[in-house]
Amino acid sequence: MPRAGRPTADLIHGTDSAARFLDAVGRLYVPGMGTEVVAPLLSQLIHLVRPKRVLEIGMGYTTPFLARALAQVTELVRAERQALAAKSRPYLDADSALDDTWLYTEPALLSPTYYRPQYQPRLVAIDDMSDPHTSAPQVSAVLAELGLNDQVTIVNAKLRDCANQLSADFLPIDFAWVDVWDCLYFFEHFLDLINPDGGLVVMHYLMTYPEGEAILEYIAESQQLRPGEFEVLSMLESQKLTQNSMTILRRTRAASPKLYADVGNRIRLDDKLRDDAAALISPSADEA
Ligand SMILES: C[S@@+](CC[C@H](N)C(=O)[O-])C[C@H]1O[C@@H](n2cnc3c(N)ncnc32)[C@H](O)[C@@H]1O
Repeated sequence: MPRAGRPTADLIHGTDSAARFLDAVGRLYVPGMGTEVVAPLLSQLIHLVRPKRVLEIGMGYTTPFLARALAQVTELVRAERQALAAKSRPYLDADSALDDTWLYTEPALLSPTYYRPQYQPRLVAIDDMSDPHTSAPQVSAVLAELGLNDQVTIVNAKLRDCANQLSADFLPIDFAWVDVWDCLYFFEHFLDLINPDGGLVVMHYLMTYPEGEAILEYIAESQQLRPGEFEVLSMLESQKLTQNSMTILRRTRAASPKLYADVGNRIRLDDKLRDDAAALISPSADEA
């Protein structure tokens, strides 16, 4: 069990299990796929945004990085919930208001509301196994070896056959990693399935090829036609000849209001925050 306080370091960077993980995923690594930097970056993005429903199109080396990040965040959320309840309990027992000491004591800065629902993320990974060089057929065995297959559903199908097949409880998608040529199809048929409150779509290698550049132009035109719908950022791995860019779309249509912040960076340490911290200590929250 991760220790209370700030439990992140071991879970994110790993200790002995990190070597075992790298050994196993190394067997899925295909140099021409160009995901050696992207895979750990995807993992860090999962840690940053903590999505619940993750879709991967185009399996291989990246799949266990996504699955492991979701498993790590699941453990982190559990440990943080317990630590947050433990540091709040003395305030609630003494009927005291929450204060700056509460806010900055480890686990610092955490929002009680975030920890009310259970965090049970899922990864749906789609691949039609059409590429003769892909390591996708080996992914399932590597996930099983690493104990990471619980939260993962592998779908052997074409992207184009999946838009209407995703179950209602997998929507909206919070995070999608698209590593196939069919990015235009994804943009046109899946964007509305992405969470309008900050859902991310990460697309591989659009900057390198004329076809990809045309897709980026199309996305830019769509952005002008649909103002406020999404943001776009592309990044280039400039040392590489190909398979060397990442484009991130972030949906912005329905951003949630801030629960505890006034204008600027000032946090309201008010009764609502205290009530939400108290709710974490209720028996049902302890079981979660
Ligand atoms: C570039 S590779 C993915 C590389 C992988 N992300 C990695 O890190 O090793 C693309 C994968 O998508 C699959 N694929 C290609 N086109 C597809 C499509 N239209 N629908 C589903 N899968 C597709 C291929 O079989 C291949 O496994």
